[in-house]
Amino acid sequence: MQHISFFFALGLVALLAGCQSPAPPTAADVYAAYEEPHRSQFHFTPPAQWMNDPNGMFFYEGEYHLFYQHYPDSNVWGPMHWGHAVSTDMHHWEHLPIALYPDSLGYIFSGSAVVDWKNTSGFGQGGQPPIVAIFTHHNMDGEKAGRKDFQYQSIAYSTDKGRTWTKYAGNPVIPNTVPIKDFRDPKVIWDDASEQWVMVFAANNHVKIWGSPDLKSWTHLSDFGGEWGSHGGVWECPDLFPMPVVGTSDTRWVLLLSINPGGPNGGSATQYFVGDFDGKTFTLDPTFAPSVANEKAVWLDYGRDNYAGVTWSDVPKADGRRLFMGWMSNWDYAQVVPTQAWRSAMTLPRVLELKQQPQGYRLAAMPAGMLDIHARRTQDTNVPPKQLLAGESVALGLPANALQLSLGFSTYMDTTANFGVELTNSKGQRYRIGYDGIKKSFYSDRTKAGNHGFSDKFAPAIHWAPRQSADGNVEMVLVFDVSSAELFADGGTTVMTDLFFPDEVFTEVRVYCDKGRVDMEGGQAFPLKSVWK
Ligand code: FRU
Repeated sequence: MQHISFFFALGLVALLAGCQSPAPPTAADVYAAYEEPHRSQFHFTPPAQWMNDPNGMFFYEGEYHLFYQHYPDSNVWGPMHWGHAVSTDMHHWEHLPIALYPDSLGYIFSGSAVVDWKNTSGFGQGGQPPIVAIFTHHNMDGEKAGRKDFQYQSIAYSTDKGRTWTKYAGNPVIPNTVPIKDFRDPKVIWDDASEQWVMVFAANNHVKIWGSPDLKSWTHLSDFGGEWGSHGGVWECPDLFPMPVVGTSDTRWVLLLSINPGGPNGGSATQYFVGDFDGKTFTLDPTFAPSVANEKAVWLDYGRDNYAGVTWSDVPKADGRRLFMGWMSNWDYAQVVPTQAWRSAMTLPRVLELKQQPQGYRLAAMPAGMLDIHARRTQDTNVPPKQLLAGESVALGLPANALQLSLGFSTYMDTTANFGVELTNSKGQRYRIGYDGIKKSFYSDRTKAGNHGFSDKFAPAIHWAPRQSADGNVEMVLVFDVSSAELFADGGTTVMTDLFFPDEVFTEVRVYCDKGRVDMEGGQAFPLKSVWK
């Protein structure tokens, strides 16, 4: 089986799973509902059928665009299209028609999109800048024939605010001449300093960096990574961008890089690198290099369900946020999770910041634009009262299925305490997310959180995330949305994203302290409303 590639194998699974599943409802049925068991209420999900990576995110004229890997004919992976949605706040989405269909060059795999402000490509009309999408064409016939050159980079453009797209007649713009079997996922930025477009894409075990004056003709600049970071699986979906270092006037470059498998808790996950880019080469910061030497990695998220995430292009300078979104699933089980009408959600949009930590440069992530959904929340903010917890759990009297919770815990009294938040239902199922003072780690425990019989890779063990902060106060921002939990701990310096599938929706939220004693300092709770209604 070893010569059969990941995507060929995925296709076989798709075929088999497709045979077993009942015909899913039409997109129109589902869009009207958004009420099926496990359906996220304020995370992005496609109206129907299969979704994986977020693609081509850009901001233009007040709209955040989100494209996504999509197979509109089945709820498992298959011939890839780019689905499309727009939003003014990254939470309330309007579904638009499919933007890119497979063609004679292949399926439309992951990629990015940029606003070509100076019309360097010449695709613009009437003084309006064109939007240019850069993606991988994946040629299934080439793959089946055992060739190695079946992935290459192509472009398409839009002159009507991303509504319709024309594929460039000169595709591919980067053919796979070497050839390299895994050669995909281009992410493009405009680099002010070197005055050129810079593309990164994944080539098996490293990242390729190419430059272009016009998005059509590209030159190879350099390679990065063969000898750095984790190589437990194939490299995918890179993203390279400059970031200010919080509290300083310095800038460093960050390279996000997804890897499948090989994640810290198994399966798919995203590592990152911090360094500098001189218009040609990405070089690791000397203080960051030891963190990623000899197969070591620094992870963006320690949960199992944040993969292939990249950042938005063309967020206005005056806004300045580096906005991120990932696919909230894991290739270990994404195709068999117990949903039928649709499969997969995106993570919340997140703001990334680069911070100087005792361990060196580290990214922090917090939810983006939550105020926009809070403005429409169902009831006023509740503040759980300050209380001592010792060997008990206390119900907070809040809805458990759509909730943002910010809690502070003081561990000065007992640094070994084990405490957190649990969700329960009347079937005795329980999800826990908490902190273990002895291990100095956060954890997410979905082992008793409901259905996990669909895959033995889904919940064999608790997931762990080492704490970065050494502060005596442990701060947890938690976001629960029917079938997902996101933890942003200590200002976002430790992040976990996990799915769960209870047989009945979780109805109760409790805080607990199992071992030792902890002072819950109180916090804020925001019960949230569906963004689809
Ligand atoms: C990541 C990925 C990409 C590829 C796409 C195919 O999840 O494998 O590397 O472009 O999905 O759908």
